Amino acid sequence: MNKPVKPGNWEATPNNLESFWMGFTPNRAFKARPRMISRAKDMHYYDMQGRAIMDGSAGLWCTNAGHCREPIVEAIQESAAELDFAPTFQYGHPKVFELASRLATMAPGDLNYAFFCNSGSEAADSALKIALAYHRARGEGTRTRLIGRERGYHGVNFGGISVGGMVANRKWFGAMLAGVDHLPHTYNRKEQAFTRGEPTWGAHLAEDLERLVALHDASTIAAVIVEPMAGSTGVLPPPKGYLKKLREICTKHGILLIFDEVITGFGRLGAAFAAERFGVVPDLMTFAKGVTSGTVPMGGVMVRQGIYDTFMNGPDHAIELFHGYTYTGHPMAAAAGVATMDVYRDEKLFERAAKLEERWADACFKLQGNPLIEDIRTLGLVAAFDLKAVEGKPGLRAYKAMENAFHDHGLLIRITADTIALSPPLIITENQIDELLGERLPAVLKSVASL
Ligand SMILES: Cc1ncc(COP(=O)(O)O)c(C=O)c1O
Repeated sequence: MNKPVKPGNWEATPNNLESFWMGFTPNRAFKARPRMISRAKDMHYYDMQGRAIMDGSAGLWCTNAGHCREPIVEAIQESAAELDFAPTFQYGHPKVFELASRLATMAPGDLNYAFFCNSGSEAADSALKIALAYHRARGEGTRTRLIGRERGYHGVNFGGISVGGMVANRKWFGAMLAGVDHLPHTYNRKEQAFTRGEPTWGAHLAEDLERLVALHDASTIAAVIVEPMAGSTGVLPPPKGYLKKLREICTKHGILLIFDEVITGFGRLGAAFAAERFGVVPDLMTFAKGVTSGTVPMGGVMVRQGIYDTFMNGPDHAIELFHGYTYTGHPMAAAAGVATMDVYRDEKLFERAAKLEERWADACFKLQGNPLIEDIRTLGLVAAFDLKAVEGKPGLRAYKAMENAFHDHGLLIRITADTIALSPPLIITENQIDELLGERLPAVLKSVASL
């Protein structure tokens, strides 16, 4: 590689794309045929030539309010000019407290406290650490075991990959945390294929937690962490009654239940949180992405009253939780978060997602019968299309679909293995639903039919 050009003269030529080692991306293929985005507004991205590309996945499941929305942009601009940084260790600034209050009001049950970090991965690790510290603080320090679920995704940090169940994220880095076990995932194509919403089969899989309790003993188990709807491993809506059952078993054995709502939070499933939609209150609930509609990195954990109270002990001047990040509650992220909550409220975007759910599912299921599609799953404003894999080349068909979608059909989609996952901004209109699912996606599928 030649060294990139001098600062100030940078252009997106192939050589100048070399230095950025892109994550979760085949670097050589991307750099040979880049998919560059230079601008965004509302439902669309624009490439370097100004061509509009419909955003079928809210960026990475995060721009729920749509792109470059004025009230959020203005709040970020004002914040950057007013308070560039302030520590939230031993000091504070108003916006972060305001955002915490807003989230506490929005979260179900007595999830009254917000701990902030900067990403979903940090949120997952923060929740696991709070769970361990909670048991220790109340004198049950033997509870150190963490239970995740197969096909779970909790980000890329060592805690998250240990409880996660995405094989590629685990095999490269070892199973770092000791004392972790996993529940079975809830997907069964034979029983559930082409289900709209929650499948009727599979609630009994929650009872596997009883088996793990019998194996390890409840006194060793700190917490169970699941996504209410597994997103990143291919969109797996929870079977009817599954989450309630999991809640009952956790409560019975004094095990904390953590919902990872990094994707499902902020209207994605037609309610503020999946916990609200499914009527199940977890003990800890992670969030990220939609909290700032993707504009400024932020994540966090909502915590139940009793857990917070347990820590509020000891001398007044002593730190209660030895955890936090330099950028915890960064002023710009907090300002973006408050402005984002205003947009969600003022435009009733969560209600909008709920109203559109049937329309969305109808449009998705019109593709049932396409010979390339082996299963369709929908929930809220989310859909997954499992494509038939090209023999001997798993992942190739969906990868090509993503390439063709961007270059030839003005559409940005998310793929995982041979699954296409869609999760548009919640501002999508009915006409845009038809355009996305009735025109663009069918054209993309046609383009990969002969592989
Ligand atoms: C459920 C869940 N948890 C955690 C994460 C990790 O978030 P981040 O990429 O912001 O670290 C994701 C990302 O998609 C997620 O879907």
